[in-house]
Amino acid sequence: MEIMKSAWQSPSNIAIVKYWGKKGFQIPANPSISFTLDQIFTQTELYIKRKKSTQTIDLTFFFDDKPKPEFIPKITQFLSAISNDFPWLNLYHLEIHSKNNFPYGTGIASSASAMSALALCIIEIDNKLSNKILSEHDFMRKSSFYSRIGSGSACRSIYRGFSEWGYHSEINGSSDEYAIPLTNIHPDFMHIMDSVLLIENTEKSVSSSKGHDMLNEHWYASRRFEQGKAHTLTLLHSLQENNIHSFGQIAEQEALTLHAMMLTSPHGYFLIHPNTLTVLNEIRTFRAKSNLPVFFTMDAGANVHVLYFEKDKHNVQLFIENQLLRYCAENSCIHSGLGKGPQRL
Ligand code: PMV
Repeated sequence: MEIMKSAWQSPSNIAIVKYWGKKGFQIPANPSISFTLDQIFTQTELYIKRKKSTQTIDLTFFFDDKPKPEFIPKITQFLSAISNDFPWLNLYHLEIHSKNNFPYGTGIASSASAMSALALCIIEIDNKLSNKILSEHDFMRKSSFYSRIGSGSACRSIYRGFSEWGYHSEINGSSDEYAIPLTNIHPDFMHIMDSVLLIENTEKSVSSSKGHDMLNEHWYASRRFEQGKAHTLTLLHSLQENNIHSFGQIAEQEALTLHAMMLTSPHGYFLIHPNTLTVLNEIRTFRAKSNLPVFFTMDAGANVHVLYFEKDKHNVQLFIENQLLRYCAENSCIHSGLGKGPQRL
């Protein structure tokens, strides 16, 4: 029986300007900018095997070499959503093996790395089945487009370094349907680092779908979307002109706004742990005392991402070890640099 395989490693990314809220099916309410992380990634293998019945998506899923049926509904939803464009998804049995190099269930967003790795496998197999040869540029763009259907933030994991997603009239080539790589970034920013402090090692209590939905009925949503749009352009200029102060100011304001939007939503989602606030204060105190460019950002959870530059790595990591690890679950922290982008395995 004909079996075909594709395997990809794809990184997670951290948004500096956040995507939070949608204006249609997987269309962002405002543009966002992120960078990929070289030490946080998913590796996925997709095997396809011809099957008899051709009705629906049929898949088995293994996570860390063990069957994980609880992940199947989300993956099936993604595959069904794209199956009109890839009719072969219904003709084959799909076997997916996936693993993360970071602990699962610690609130580190795994959907960006997982969905982008799977989308890359699908596009590669589609090319093989249809004997298509896409240029590197078209392959990446197509992978970004379909990653977005699986998880919005996943479309930004396709490129090394910084990428932007969401149409902005002042940003050439920007689109709501895929991310674009930001190539003319100041070289200093190519040495940025992110140490992820695992404040809580439990699953996020609010899924990102619920978080996005909450913006639909939020008093402050429209102003937030304007802010996200304005921040995207200012951040792009800061990255190009090496304006570290502006970068840090936007990073922190975006993180706090993300949580402020949740706190002030009708549900009053409360994702910050007391230790999160302590760590944010410690980072600001350290910055004031040391004069080093050290900033924070956060995802939709209790974890804190410490942002700094490679040249200050020794001092900042010493500070993390001495002052911050005590606030982390099991003293856990992952130090990461700027990601190289996905790799074929
Ligand atoms: O990709 P989603 O639907 O899981 O949304 C992720 C949203 C944030 O991680 C909170 C922000 C972002 O832009 O990545």
